[in-house]
Amino acid sequence: MAIRGFSERRLTAEVVKRVSRAPDRRLRQVMRSFVKHLHAFVREVRPTQAEWMRGIEFLTETGHKCDGRRQEFILLSDTLGVSMLVDAINHRQSGGATESTVLGPFYVEGAPVLPMGADIARPGTPGEPCAVAGTVSDAKGKPVGGAVLDVWEAQGDGFYDVQKPEGMNARARFRTGRDGGFAFRCVKPVSYPVPHDGPAGRLLEATGRHPMRPAHLHFRIEAPGFETLVTHLFVKGDKYLDSDAVFGVKEPLVVPFRKNRAGTIEARYDFVLKRKR
Ligand code: BEZ
Ligand code: FE
Repeated sequence: MAIRGFSERRLTAEVVKRVSRAPDRRLRQVMRSFVKHLHAFVREVRPTQAEWMRGIEFLTETGHKCDGRRQEFILLSDTLGVSMLVDAINHRQSGGATESTVLGPFYVEGAPVLPMGADIARPGTPGEPCAVAGTVSDAKGKPVGGAVLDVWEAQGDGFYDVQKPEGMNARARFRTGRDGGFAFRCVKPVSYPVPHDGPAGRLLEATGRHPMRPAHLHFRIEAPGFETLVTHLFVKGDKYLDSDAVFGVKEPLVVPFRKNRAGTIEARYDFVLKRKR
């Protein structure tokens, strides 16, 4: 049926009314809000037909850039701060639990399980040798033994193993001891650009932004009875800490990576997991 006495407002009201018939309650809520905000956006921006088409083409290209290894929509969500917003909504921190941050596209399930103290980087991996140690505990300071600690990082050349023609490297899993302790060697994290050879990268450039992430080490810590923690440790002093392309930096996750007397770079962190309710 035609919209009686067509107007911009009536159009929005009619679309909201129609999506409100969705039988699924959550879908109804999502679609009502989506239509309202999308229409408000168009009303505010007042795009020309050509501009709207450019937007459609941008999203089409974003889809075409995706394949089994590349997810350009997630990259867009990351670089627009939406991934961090969804993470914040779903991981409200309490009781001193370690802050979470984005998972990123370079996590791979099934990394090799290595003995405590092992080097996650194969011999010849570009980068400076580094040692990381710490503990995993609950909010009361009780050690969490048997936690699976997944760690992965970009190598000294700024690339993850999955971006190069090589097998798994610079990633591993460790199981914490009864004291909740962990220790491993790696290469010192370096800052690197997020993939920026696609639409998300073009948008960064067009908006005067760089694609760099400050140097970091990724962690995913899983233990029975606790919420899985996905986080990073950032290298104190990195020049991109205040302008991370994906807005992932939280102050308590910034730690010193210092050279010890033997010349090895060292970092330490005590992770605190949140109990499942
Ligand atoms: C990462 O840190 O691995 C990452 C996170 C978000 C987008 C791209 C890379
Ligand atoms: Fe990363």
